[in-house]
Amino acid sequence: MIEGRRIWLTGASSGIGAHMAKELLQRGTRLALTARTLGPLVALSERFPGQVLLVPGDLTDHLQVREIGMTIAQSWGALDTVILSAGTCEYVDVSQFDARVIERSVCTNLLASSYCIESALPLLRAGRTPHLVGIVSAVTASPQRRAQAFGAAKSGLRYLLESLRVDLADEGIDVTLVSPGFVDTSRAENPELSIQGRWPASKAAAYICQQLQKRPREVVFPTRLLKLLNLLATLPKRVQVVLAKRLSRRQGETSL
Ligand SMILES: NC(=O)c1ccc[n+]([C@@H]2O[C@H](COP(=O)([O-])OP(=O)(O)OC[C@H]3O[C@@H](n4cnc5c(N)ncnc54)[C@H](OP(=O)(O)O)[C@@H]3O)[C@@H](O)[C@H]2O)c1
Repeated sequence: MIEGRRIWLTGASSGIGAHMAKELLQRGTRLALTARTLGPLVALSERFPGQVLLVPGDLTDHLQVREIGMTIAQSWGALDTVILSAGTCEYVDVSQFDARVIERSVCTNLLASSYCIESALPLLRAGRTPHLVGIVSAVTASPQRRAQAFGAAKSGLRYLLESLRVDLADEGIDVTLVSPGFVDTSRAENPELSIQGRWPASKAAAYICQQLQKRPREVVFPTRLLKLLNLLATLPKRVQVVLAKRLSRRQGETSL
């Protein structure tokens, strides 16, 4: 039963997170929404009056995240679900390797998520059938060209969540990882522009929301791509390098 659940959703201003927010609000949940851009969050709170708690902020700022946690605690006293969707993707130009790209990616995709987890855990402990959800990426299945920064950060997030699952099981807190492959977040509203094999963000969000109700350990899509990446990971390293180059050329190196 999802209606009435108190959910903190990060990354709610665009892409998968924005579509998930709409899906979840339509299903009657209460949502605490975070992103730096306030406009889309306000639009949702006006469209779904009484269901939205606005908790905007920069999640890479530890203090801001603590304040967000305090606001949720004062307003709701507990959280039933936390969905960490906020993230960024920057590609590395290996010919001019710049460690700041790695730093930014780790900061937004890994450290910010750990700040959120710090604020959320006491609230989840007070919640009903608590559920912690983090969006990682299919890229962690095998190394891909130019994905060094994004892949390193998301691999770290994967380990963080999977090891938390082991410790939190005793407390009855379920942990689910979501591993998207290619989601067309910028052009989701126009299916004609979708590149073959990509899912529009609306489809990805609907699928994630539906799957989360079953509380699986992982939600993966599109499954064909994931099977391909998992198969790639079992091959000898030199074959992986050749195939990863071909795959990135076919997919346009724009996502994962
Ligand atoms: N699209 C894909 O193909 C794909 C594939 C694999 C994994 N993923 C993951 O899925 C999640 C959603 O991706 P998306 O494509 O929907 O991304 P998106 O459209 O770029 O949206 C990213 C969201 O994160 C928020 N965000 C970024 N930095 C933030 C910060 N410092 N503080 C607070 N909020 C921040 C953004 O809000 P503001 O800018 O307003 O702060 C925005 O709401 C991400 O974790 C991404 O890594 C996506």
